[in-house]
Amino acid sequence: MSTVSKKRVAILISGRGSNMGALLDAAVDPAYPIEIAGVISDTPGAAGLGIAAARGVPVQVIARADHASKDAHDGAIDAAIAELNAEIVALAGYMRLLTTPFVEKWQGRMINIHPALLPSFKGLDTHRRALEAGTRLHGCTVHFVTPQMDDGPIIAQAAVPVMIGDDADTLAARVLKAEHGLYPMALKLVAEGKARMQGGRTVFSGLAEDTANGDASLSAPGPLREEIDLEQLARITP
Ligand code: GAR
Repeated sequence: MSTVSKKRVAILISGRGSNMGALLDAAVDPAYPIEIAGVISDTPGAAGLGIAAARGVPVQVIARADHASKDAHDGAIDAAIAELNAEIVALAGYMRLLTTPFVEKWQGRMINIHPALLPSFKGLDTHRRALEAGTRLHGCTVHFVTPQMDDGPIIAQAAVPVMIGDDADTLAARVLKAEHGLYPMALKLVAEGKARMQGGRTVFSGLAEDTANGDASLSAPGPLREEIDLEQLARITP
């Protein structure tokens, strides 16, 4: 039996850690090309730390308050990632902007999940803003991290319908479910070198022909499509 070569991934979190949990779940599969080297939080007491520790994943807190500057803080995070021998950094609800030198060092090897269909709704409070804008589709995006916030090349996206009567919480829950399907799939593509950042774009290679031609696997995780309630969807279609 051939063994899968695994890339070591450091996950950065600030809070709940449900996307981190989805990556940990995916990494349980021996065929998944990722080993979670460790989880780093900038927030002491982040719920995700307990989840990771309970699963035997090394965790550490590197708090901004313990460092004199943003550069010093990111330097400490960089040193911790080096200590973990991580080759890829996955931001999973990491709520602090990273400094340009740190981002440039990891460019092409650091990805983020954002709770909106970029380039719409960069920044915070995306679900409320999507509702206010009256969009009928919302979703999430995994992208390479570049110095400009939520601006890097897109790797994969999942769309969900906005239902009549949604509030920010119901919409967030629907998007979060999509995030948990999308993030492990996108991280796998990066780990396998099938999605690479090149010349400011994401370049895909080695994908099945139907995927490369626009199969939904880069634009929505399979299970999600089945879970969408078609009757409700019909009600929002004019
Ligand atoms: C997720 O919805 C993620 O997309 C978002 O924070 C949430 C973290 O949840 N990230 C951002 O807004 C980054 N700008 P989680 O801690 O349960 O994964």
